[in-house]
Amino acid sequence: MTAGIRNGYRIAGNAPLDARNTFGVRAIAPTLVEVTDTAALPELFGSLVPSAASTLVLGGGSNLLFAGDAPGVVLALQARCIRIIEDGARAIVRADAGVVWHEFVLWTLEHDLTGLENLALIPGTVGAAPIQNIGAYGVEVRECIHAVEAFDRASGRFVRLAADACAFAYRDSLFKRDPDRYVVTAVEFALSRRFEPRLGYAGIEDELRAMGVGTPRASQVAEAVIRIRRRKLPDPAVLGNAGSFFKNPVVSERVAAELHAAHPGMPLFRGADGSSCKLSAAWLIDQCGWKGHREGDAGVAPAHALVLVNYGGATGPQLLDLARRIAASVRARFGLGLEPEPRIVGAAW
Ligand code: EPU
Repeated sequence: MTAGIRNGYRIAGNAPLDARNTFGVRAIAPTLVEVTDTAALPELFGSLVPSAASTLVLGGGSNLLFAGDAPGVVLALQARCIRIIEDGARAIVRADAGVVWHEFVLWTLEHDLTGLENLALIPGTVGAAPIQNIGAYGVEVRECIHAVEAFDRASGRFVRLAADACAFAYRDSLFKRDPDRYVVTAVEFALSRRFEPRLGYAGIEDELRAMGVGTPRASQVAEAVIRIRRRKLPDPAVLGNAGSFFKNPVVSERVAAELHAAHPGMPLFRGADGSSCKLSAAWLIDQCGWKGHREGDAGVAPAHALVLVNYGGATGPQLLDLARRIAASVRARFGLGLEPEPRIVGAAW
C-alpha cells in the first residue's frame, strides 16, 4: 500500500476494505482517500478524481455489499465534530458526516435533546443517515433533519439543502438516487427539549413495562429500543451483516387486500396516505422457509429473516447469489419483487 499525507486528506493505494464493511467481505479500493478536512473536497475532485469517475463514499460500511472491488476512488470522511448552532425549545445541532450514528444519538440524549431516541443503535455514520433516510421503531430520520450539507460534484461547490429539498421517502433520498453527485459532509438536526414519546411501534411499550418504566424519559425509550435490537438483530461486530437486506415492499391497498385474503396471517402496515400499504419482507422470506438457512458461511439470521449474515468466510458474490434466490422464491410464491436495501457495489441487482 502506498500512502501520502496532504492538506486535509490521506491517500492509500490498493487498500483492503474488509474491516470497513460490516458484512466483513473481502474487497479492495484501488484508491482510498481519508478526508480529515472536507475543505479539501474541491481540490480532490478538481485534480485527483476525474469528473466522470464513480466514487464511493464510505461511512460505517453498514449499508453496502461488495460484490466486487470498489470503483476507482473510495472516500472516507473522518471529521467528527458536533455542535449546537441554535438553542431553545427547538435546537439545531450540526454533526459532521464522520460522527458514528449511535454515539451521536447518545450525545443528543446527554444534552437533553430529543427526537432521535427511537433510532438508537443503528449502525453507520451521521453522513449516511440522510442518504437512505434511516428509520426504526416508527420514526424516520427525515422527521428530525433540518438541512443537509454536501459537496456537489456537478457544480464543484458546497451546498446546503433544506430537508424538503432532499426528496426523502422510505429508505430513499435525492442522495441515494444520484450517488455520484453529492458527498454529504454534515447534517443539521432540529431536536426538541420537550420530549414527545413515540411508542406506537409494536414491542416498545412491552419493553418499557418489562424495564419497570411507567412514564419514560427519552433515554429510557432509547434503552428499550437498544434491548429490542440486541435481541432481534445480530451485532455486526460479532456476525457480519448489513441490517435489513431488503426493503419492505410498498403496494396499493387493492394488491394488499388481495394478498391478505389469500394469506390471512400476513402483516400489513397502512400508509398515512391511505392508498398504499407496506408489507413485511421478513414475513414473506420467513414463509418461504429461509430463516436460519445457512450454506457454507453465507446465511439468513436465525432471529430475523430480513438479515443476511456472513459466518466468517462468505464472499460478496455468494451473499448476492443467496439474496437473488431469496427474492426469486418470494416472487414465485407471492408475485412480489423484493429490492435490496444496501447499495450493491460491483454488480447489478
Ligand atoms: N417477522 C417475521 N419473521 C421474522 C422477522 C419479522 O415474520 O423473521 C415479522 C414480524 O412478526 C413483524 C414484521 O415482520 O410483524 C416486522 O418485523 P420488524 O418489526 O422486525 O420490522 P421489519 O419491517 O422487518 C423494519 C426495518 C428495520 C427496523 C425495524 C424496526 C426495513 C427494511 N427494516 O424491519 O431496519 O429496525 O423495522 O423498526 O424497513 C434496517 O433498515 O437495516 C433495519 C434493521
